[in-house]
Amino acid sequence: MPSAIENGANGNSNGTSSHGIPTSCPSCPTPLKYSGSLDHLPFFEITPIIGREYPTVKVTDILNAPNAEEQIRDLAIIISERGVIFFRDQDDLNIADQKRFCDLVGKLSGRPEENGLHVHPIYRDPGNLTLPDGSTDENIYVINSEAQKKIYKTMAKRGPEEPRDLSREWHSDSTFETVPSDFSFLKMEETPPHSGDTLWCSGYEVYDRISPSFRSYLETLTATCAQPVFKSAATAGNYDVMSPRGSPLNVGDDFAPSHPVVRTNRVTGWKAIFAGVGLHVTKINGVYSYEDQMIRDYIMRLMTRNHDCIARMKWTKNAAAIWNNTCVWHAATPDTHLVDGNRVGVRASSIGEVPYLDPKSKSRREALGIPIF
Ligand SMILES: [Fe+2]
Repeated sequence: MPSAIENGANGNSNGTSSHGIPTSCPSCPTPLKYSGSLDHLPFFEITPIIGREYPTVKVTDILNAPNAEEQIRDLAIIISERGVIFFRDQDDLNIADQKRFCDLVGKLSGRPEENGLHVHPIYRDPGNLTLPDGSTDENIYVINSEAQKKIYKTMAKRGPEEPRDLSREWHSDSTFETVPSDFSFLKMEETPPHSGDTLWCSGYEVYDRISPSFRSYLETLTATCAQPVFKSAATAGNYDVMSPRGSPLNVGDDFAPSHPVVRTNRVTGWKAIFAGVGLHVTKINGVYSYEDQMIRDYIMRLMTRNHDCIARMKWTKNAAAIWNNTCVWHAATPDTHLVDGNRVGVRASSIGEVPYLDPKSKSRREALGIPIF
């Protein structure tokens, strides 16, 4: 049962459960209701469970529509229900509009008003990659496979050869922050003819595949999401990490918050597994190390043995994806070294709310009346 403890997150009174997990986001007007403003746009679903593609829609047309705010709010609802959506041929979308769109998706879907776009902690690092025009932007994270190849060449060789375990690629953006990202928007400026696919896995569906008694247990748990690499990089480079980073609460260089293993998505009101697995998850709190490993292995097993929970993007030049980090994990496929051509992406991320678990929220299948099997 939730207690009446106030924790003051986001500057508002915010109850917490007896396990120390926030139970609401008082400033988030959720769940939101779709108005139908996007019904005229052609689309197809990627799978029955996750993902949608709008093959001919231009993001700039949505931004410039007379009812742009209504359309963007509706799109935020669709992203939050489907987990991720894909666009193609966004050749006319510049960095300023990409940032504006990502910011509006978060803002118009009820993000606490003091939050904004994430600032990458080590933006001041001399090795920070530039945008294709040579400039940099503190709100844009740049991906460049050719630059990564050069970085890896300078690294010491590993020990005996062994098959790679790509499960470590799965993550949710910015979970190393007290207030992590809600929406991330990635545009691929350049891509080889194949390789570098990105995958998204539904945290809603993984939650739905866990037995009710075990779900209840997971709902009592939090995980430490530590990422000490930023502080060590800043120390080595003799610069300060950026602060604040998209929220007045994302300051300093600790990068070790605790987040709930099960989280309510503020837009849909549905529960998803959140901090139970992923690159930035260091440990499940309050359990023995063997139990910690067992829980994380179990969640990863559900993800990797249920590929109907996964949507896959085969990138094309100027394709884009926008997803809700509070209900999906994503993973890049590190196979670009096998082909010629550069993979260059630019990503903006909105900062959402302090993760919470509303004990009254439902699972996606419960809310939609879909049986498990
Ligand atoms: Fe990511």
